[in-house]
Amino acid sequence: MSVLPIIEIGHPALRARARDVGDEELATPELRRICDDLVETMRAASGAGLAAPQVDVPLRVFAVEVGDNPRYPYKPRLRRRVLVNPVVRPVGDEMYGSYEGCLSIPGLRGLLPRFAEVEVTYADPDGSEHCERFGGLSAGTMQHELDHLDGILFPDRVEDPTTLCTWEMFRAYRQDAWLESIEPLLLRFPGESSPGAAA
Ligand code: NI
Repeated sequence: MSVLPIIEIGHPALRARARDVGDEELATPELRRICDDLVETMRAASGAGLAAPQVDVPLRVFAVEVGDNPRYPYKPRLRRRVLVNPVVRPVGDEMYGSYEGCLSIPGLRGLLPRFAEVEVTYADPDGSEHCERFGGLSAGTMQHELDHLDGILFPDRVEDPTTLCTWEMFRAYRQDAWLESIEPLLLRFPGESSPGAAA
């Protein structure tokens, strides 16, 4: 496995629509290697998720994992998954205010609306089909990573530009009030129990 360079906002590959992974590509050594590299690169950068376009691979694939993450100490746990050709559908129309950052936009955070609960269908790298529901900040992670596959970056969805801030200023002036505002959501969707236990 390799840690790959993460490309940053301004790179045209972050604005392109990624292509579907073909059935004939599932369970191949090439796809497995890309998926393993995505996970390794995400972990090395302490990301909660990483999409293939962020390492300049134009495929509809992203990885997610939240354990004890120093970058996101408040994030509910989410087992490691690599999602191939994911489809994300909202469950209901409830939204919440998601304060997000992105490994391709170093230093910046901003507040944007996300669906509070989503259903995600995807294949794993071996080609098995999955359908799972995610809620709260984990649902937000799914929507953020899916956006990368469509060339969308989180600032595109920020409605109030005065919420943009650096990580240091987020921690100093924004984090407490934001966490209080989403406390009911964190209680409803506390996260998974054993990070890293399942693929
Ligand atoms: Ni991102």
